Amino acid sequence: MTKRKDSSIEIQTSPKESSKKSTKKRSIEVPSAKSVVLRDMGYPFRIKGDPRSAGLEIDSEELFADYAREQWMGTIVRQGLYLFDRYIMPDYAFQVLEVEPKESIISKDTKIHLESQSTVTESVSTRLITLDEVVGHDPIKRKCKLILEYLQNPSIFGEWAPRAVLFYGPPGTGKTMTAQAVANQANAKIFFAKASDLIGVHVGDGGRRISTLFDEARKNAPSIIFIDELDAIGLTRSFQSIRGDVSEVVTALLGELDHTAGTAGVVVIGATNALPLIDPAIKNRFDTVFEFALPSTEERLSILQNYSKRLPLEMEIDLQEVAKMTEGLSGRDLRDRILKESLHIAISDESSIITSEIVRGILDKIKPKSGPNYTI
Ligand SMILES: Nc1ncnc2c1ncn2[C@@H]1O[C@H](COP(=O)(O)OP(=O)(O)OP(=O)(O)O)[C@@H](O)[C@H]1O
Ligand SMILES: [Mg+2]
Repeated sequence: MTKRKDSSIEIQTSPKESSKKSTKKRSIEVPSAKSVVLRDMGYPFRIKGDPRSAGLEIDSEELFADYAREQWMGTIVRQGLYLFDRYIMPDYAFQVLEVEPKESIISKDTKIHLESQSTVTESVSTRLITLDEVVGHDPIKRKCKLILEYLQNPSIFGEWAPRAVLFYGPPGTGKTMTAQAVANQANAKIFFAKASDLIGVHVGDGGRRISTLFDEARKNAPSIIFIDELDAIGLTRSFQSIRGDVSEVVTALLGELDHTAGTAGVVVIGATNALPLIDPAIKNRFDTVFEFALPSTEERLSILQNYSKRLPLEMEIDLQEVAKMTEGLSGRDLRDRILKESLHIAISDESSIITSEIVRGILDKIKPKSGPNYTI
């Protein structure tokens, strides 16, 4: 839900000094950069099977330099620092290869070049998640299968087409995984957008980004628009008065959702942890609102069984027992906090199997949650 204020990442040398404060203070002393050479690094990480391709094609070096200068103006750069795109490809990373003078600030006179040889290769991940791998959530999977049918054959549905579905529920319950599975199985393009990245820095940016996103999706129909963290932009009116920057985005989103409803072959999937924060007008535009509940004991067992099969070491524990002891944990918790953590301990202990003591040790430390944790 938080918006990154600064597009550069720096490791703080002094924990007491906030980055904002340090940039401000140092910008007085730091000289203006004459030239900066960037290397195209790609996305920091991607969801398995994300069809966005890595590697850039620059049509105009001059335009690229202008674009880069405008968004990173005022950023202090030094060799090795990463800069993240905020507009066309949010979170796409560039590394500063060279900068003259050594530590300097990007200004309107800085010459920015992109290293000519791209070092980024296509993602090697070929394993694609399917809906069958999502444990539980049967009504949601049924609806997703219908969406798949629609995307393959939009004309059958006519005015009765599924247009938009909203996924909500606690973190780690499979919302993104399900959207990803739909995208993988549909012969359709998927446009991923993190709502917090759709909020612009300047007035008008947010609205523009939303319309670019929807325009692209309509041009590429059949397609899916997946808006994660929808609560960051779909805020109710009362919150919009606090976050003035989102009200323009809410208006733009409402308009685009209506416009898309008249276009064949475009489906919007929204996801949020905080349904109560979503503007009722936006919520209304979604045909169906699905809750992703925390897994039941049987579902926890299935999740544990499915993922433990993929562990490189054998596990010496009755998974039924683990499933019973993990009430309140999400699928992500089971995979990362139980299975992955057990594997890591076994490897650190140079054990050739994951012993029941290792797993019990972890279970003892995990306090079951008292109820669903809808983080806001
Ligand atoms: N129902 C499930 N079946 C199988 N695996 C699951 C399930 N729920 C979660 N997982 C595992 O947990 C991981 C994280 O889930 P996912 O990213 O879809 O959660 P999310 O609901 O989008 O969470 P957030 O609200 O934090 O974005 C998945 O990639 C998967 O490995
Ligand atoms: Mg998610």
